Amino acid sequence: MNKTLDQVLSEIATIRQSALADLGNAESNEQIESWRIKYLGRKDGQITNIMRSLSNLNNEDRPTVGATANELKNVLEVALDEKINAKDHSKNADDTIPSLDISLPGQKPVIGRLHPITQVVREICSVFESMGFQVVEGPEVEWDLYNFEMLNIPKGHPARDAWDTLWINYTDDNHQTPMLMRTHTSPMQARVMENSEPPVRVLVPGKCYRYEATDATHEWHFYQIEGLAVDKGISFANLKGTLYHFAKQLFGSERKIRFRCDYFPFVEPGVDMSIDCFNCSSSNLGPQNDCRICRGSGWIEILGAGMVHPQVLENVGYDSSIYTGFAFGMGPERIAMLKYGIQDIRLFYENDMRFLKQF
Ligand code: DAH
Repeated sequence: MNKTLDQVLSEIATIRQSALADLGNAESNEQIESWRIKYLGRKDGQITNIMRSLSNLNNEDRPTVGATANELKNVLEVALDEKINAKDHSKNADDTIPSLDISLPGQKPVIGRLHPITQVVREICSVFESMGFQVVEGPEVEWDLYNFEMLNIPKGHPARDAWDTLWINYTDDNHQTPMLMRTHTSPMQARVMENSEPPVRVLVPGKCYRYEATDATHEWHFYQIEGLAVDKGISFANLKGTLYHFAKQLFGSERKIRFRCDYFPFVEPGVDMSIDCFNCSSSNLGPQNDCRICRGSGWIEILGAGMVHPQVLENVGYDSSIYTGFAFGMGPERIAMLKYGIQDIRLFYENDMRFLKQF
């Protein structure tokens, strides 16, 4: 037979009395836990049972009983929390269990460090900063306009094949040229000159992207460091002197450098620069030399450079009959690999702590 409203309410009142009294008497953790199960337990707790029996009540009585039981449930949960807290505190106050054992060995914090490429980039930047270059950065997402056209590489120019490009399906009204992931840091040459008057002396470190398969010496994303100096009367001798100083700072004061002709559409003449091998000192060249670093040639290529092409100066609005300049670009991964004797470029981006911790 269904109970009346009064019966159920007085049942709840009884539960309240006995629950609070029982909790007051509970001492050990086990007693507290069996109290919780007896009153608040999900399966057969007394409050849970009242909640379950709500469906046997008629519609008018149900909200009153539900609200009363719920209120009691909250009261009991708060009382239980207070009981547990009070117990923890009394434990700490008790001298037998110290809250802090200062004789335990400390936990060593893991100290982070700079990524080897960051270290090399910063080292290179500081060499050029000491020669008056200003370090600037530019966007990794570029317009075809800056990545190619301003650099004297118009649409359809065969030299574009040298830069396998990741294109982005987007154009806007201001640029009218496709968007891409920059394939080199050279577009910053145009951006910097467009926004400043000579003299210009900048160094641009940054990430570049190529649509390329990866192997031990190629990554599809990598860093480059671009350099640009433009002023009245800048000559190839300035280029040589600047890069010679850089090579000696980074690879040792006894280094020699070598320039050979190379082709980049944005410089004329264009060169690649090598340093003499710091590993075998290029003393015994020829097939008997099995140096891993220079493969017996005695020379290591480290960067591309040249005199800024007059067309590039004109493209940004500089008068090429007044101003001349030199530019260069290098890959810090390659420089780090040479410096530290690393065989595979992919190691830099695998995030393996055992590798990264060594630098
Ligand atoms: N941007 C060229 C590349 O990605 C490297 C380079 C060569 C930059 C010659 C220069 C330069 O500024 O003068 O291969």
